[in-house]
Amino acid sequence: MNRDIFFRAAREYGTPLYLYDLGEMQRRIKLAQDTLNSLDFKIFFAMKANSNPYLLRFIHSYGIGADVVSINEYKMARFARFRPEEIIVNGNGKSMEDLEFYIAQNPLCINVDSKEEIAKFGNKNARIALRINPDVDPKTHPHISTGLKENKFGMDFETAKEVIKTLPSNLRLAGLHCHIGSQITKIDPFIEAFSSIERFVKSQGIKLEFLNVGGGWGIDYKKDGTEMDLAGYKKKIVPLLSNFNVPIYFELGRFITASAGYLISKVTEVKRNPYKNFVILDASMADLIRPSLYDAYHEIEILNDGEEMISDIGGRICESGDIFARSRKIRTPRPGDLAVIHDVGSYGYSMASNYNLSLRPAEVAFDGEKLILIRKRERFEDILNLCLEDKNENF
Ligand code: LLP
Repeated sequence: MNRDIFFRAAREYGTPLYLYDLGEMQRRIKLAQDTLNSLDFKIFFAMKANSNPYLLRFIHSYGIGADVVSINEYKMARFARFRPEEIIVNGNGKSMEDLEFYIAQNPLCINVDSKEEIAKFGNKNARIALRINPDVDPKTHPHISTGLKENKFGMDFETAKEVIKTLPSNLRLAGLHCHIGSQITKIDPFIEAFSSIERFVKSQGIKLEFLNVGGGWGIDYKKDGTEMDLAGYKKKIVPLLSNFNVPIYFELGRFITASAGYLISKVTEVKRNPYKNFVILDASMADLIRPSLYDAYHEIEILNDGEEMISDIGGRICESGDIFARSRKIRTPRPGDLAVIHDVGSYGYSMASNYNLSLRPAEVAFDGEKLILIRKRERFEDILNLCLEDKNENF
């Protein structure tokens, strides 16, 4: 991305600011579609990665559906013009209210996470898939692995067998679902998971209408070439999946939007103590929590051409963990310089909070020419309004 765009965006919309490159998003969508093109497939965008409605509409225009995990994500998907038959519902611990809402909407499929969830459907009709937990190590950060037996998601094969045997007639078992984790770069865990599902389907004689293999495709945060092995996926996984002879559904989040997103912020202070240098930004863990939460690596670019230095880079939150990078080599900044954090288009804004009463940043999209404001910056009044709703009696 051309630096001038970062300067222009910061000048016009202030910092901290999320900027999305629509060209990159389109490139990623095509890359995923090209990898899978010999399969009968459909991609559903995992909205937890990014739920900005403008971006959702953009993604939808490429024939992609939506994977939602809450009523509000469902409503946002509908607002972004996804039709119910283009929406898959996921999530563990769904409440009765959640299920009532989803069933009435009649989405393409509801993924059932547990044996216990089956009872919550009562006698209502629904088209479901069972989420299988195949007990496979995806070799990713423990906080984002989901398909191990110690994880809370899905059901083991034995439980799935029992659920299938005792399934009430109002529930139509249309498919199986399996998502083993996120930011996966090796294909072996997928081979292991999908092969065990294949064995299960054969041994139980299950007639599938589709197989949903979740998401998890990793991206190259470190820019060292470690990312999802697409060539390997095409060569080894695609043939494995075509053996199922049914449409294969994918729930990709990170892969579609991460590399298209930048968090543009301003350096507020360059601070030195006898041990270390600290560069403090006007963005913080409230705007982007991945480094604090998962020790996640994000490239950080200081927009000047000064000498290099080694420094920690952090935010303004009163918490030691509010650090974006430790001992990182960067250009020596001056207060007021721009710092751009890369690859934040997934799990960036969608995980932002109001900690320390931080206001959520604005979001803009860049279409190759124009900057388009796609979400306003939050204001203090927006937060205060929530506290004032109750007849104001406590103030
Ligand atoms: N399907 C299911 C059922 C999921 O739980 C997830 C992500 C996805 C699809 C999409 O996975 P992706 O393609 O984006 O890897 N906040 C963490 C990531 C948590 C992912 C949770 N589930 C992060 O910032 O790395």
